[in-house]
Amino acid sequence: MAGNKQRLFFALWPDAALREGLAHLPVSIPKGKVESDNMHLTLVFIGAVDATTRACMEQAAATTRGKNFTLTLDHIGYWPKPRVLWLGPTLIPQPLLSLVDDLKTALAKNCGVTAESRPYRPHVTLSRKVHPDAPALEIEPLTWHAKSFSLVESRSEASGVKYLPLKTWDLE
Ligand code: 2AM
Repeated sequence: MAGNKQRLFFALWPDAALREGLAHLPVSIPKGKVESDNMHLTLVFIGAVDATTRACMEQAAATTRGKNFTLTLDHIGYWPKPRVLWLGPTLIPQPLLSLVDDLKTALAKNCGVTAESRPYRPHVTLSRKVHPDAPALEIEPLTWHAKSFSLVESRSEASGVKYLPLKTWDLE
């Protein structure tokens, strides 16, 4: 953590039932498995910011009127460069894309923070440092009724990275 800055991002944070489903996927995840308590779906990643910017980000989130939606997590994918195994939706609901766009716009306009410009690829990271030869995996789809989104802090602790939801806003 740089000075008294916090490393922040916006995410969909699973409720207890979904987290249980993520914790017990009926497939064997290769080593580097993300702790189920840490699993989430990033909306907008920001990075280290000071308290003033955090307050502005909360204000921006509060004024973003997102709609609730259902996400079907039905695909396990692998990105070779970061060597990440992830779970995501084949079909991306429009309200999810609108929420990400609206958040990015409000954050840039009101708080001067710009998120990365890479195309948005919604995913839940399941495992890191996965060998490219790991077998392809298939799963029974998990349904995510997204009714809220959260501002989350990424904290480096002795035991590893811990993600901590700080504040949550309802989707309409
Ligand atoms: P990942 O799971 O694919 O690594 C917290 O770091 C969350 O923000 C993670 O879900 C991470 O994605 C995501 N993220 C998106 N862009 C990032 C970036 N530029 N740096 C670090 N994390 C990023």
